[in-house]
Amino acid sequence: MTLVDRPLIQYAIDEARAAGIREFIFVTARGKSALEDYFDHAPELESILRRDGKEELLEVLKNTNMDSGAIAYIRQHRAMGLGHAVWCARRLISDEAFAVILPDDVIAAETPCLQQMIEAHAETGGCMVAAMEVAPEKTGQYGVLGVGAENGPILNVTSMVEKPAPKDAPSNLAVIGRYILTPKVLQNLNQIKSGAGGELQLTDAIAAEITNGRPVYGYRFDGRRYDCGSKSGFLQATVAFALSRPDLRDEFMDYLNAVVAMRKAAE
Ligand code: G1P
Repeated sequence: MTLVDRPLIQYAIDEARAAGIREFIFVTARGKSALEDYFDHAPELESILRRDGKEELLEVLKNTNMDSGAIAYIRQHRAMGLGHAVWCARRLISDEAFAVILPDDVIAAETPCLQQMIEAHAETGGCMVAAMEVAPEKTGQYGVLGVGAENGPILNVTSMVEKPAPKDAPSNLAVIGRYILTPKVLQNLNQIKSGAGGELQLTDAIAAEITNGRPVYGYRFDGRRYDCGSKSGFLQATVAFALSRPDLRDEFMDYLNAVVAMRKAAE
């Protein structure tokens, strides 16, 4: 899916790179092989752009290149949940903390969300998840946190529940798709049973850390999150990102104003 002029996945990679991450594992599925070509070098196209003096486009294209050996693709053969997707990558993750990004959560922020979290994680260690308040009636769409002490944006997580009904939710603080996890979570994924929706849930594997007496933190990030997995969220992201682009802003703003005025007049 393309947001303005780049695939969603590129926003995720840019955010991770800005946070200093250099090695990537994509958990993909059938029909996603275009992803591998997208992040590969495109020598023919590069030489045409160079020949035509299109330096700006060349730069954009180069951003999609990955160093050899810095990127791996793993297939999830059946959609058995986010926990299962991460578990599929277990043999490629070495014995150190790793980040998980869900690319359909796009976060517009001055300091990229993952960078904010990595800086906070340098102080705390343990596991950390991005957290954001959602409308109480929406808890059933998210992993939801029970929290204890708060230290600025860092929250001590005391419980985690995947997609609880509002009456069962420990709060309205939801997990957003950015995680910094320890390899222990991968071991937990081996032990837990399927949870909400009959799927292997990452939330449950992180919650097992709390049960085992190890710390889990929530991080109230500074930024605006767009749920590009929903139609309305994707449309909102498209408008917001287009308006933040100096090359598109004025023309697009005029268009939006005209469309809104026309609609209002018609109603
Ligand atoms: C996943 C996670 C959930 C989290 C959400 C954030 O759910 O399982 O805990 O709150 O992402 O977007 P999904 O949206 O894949 O159903």
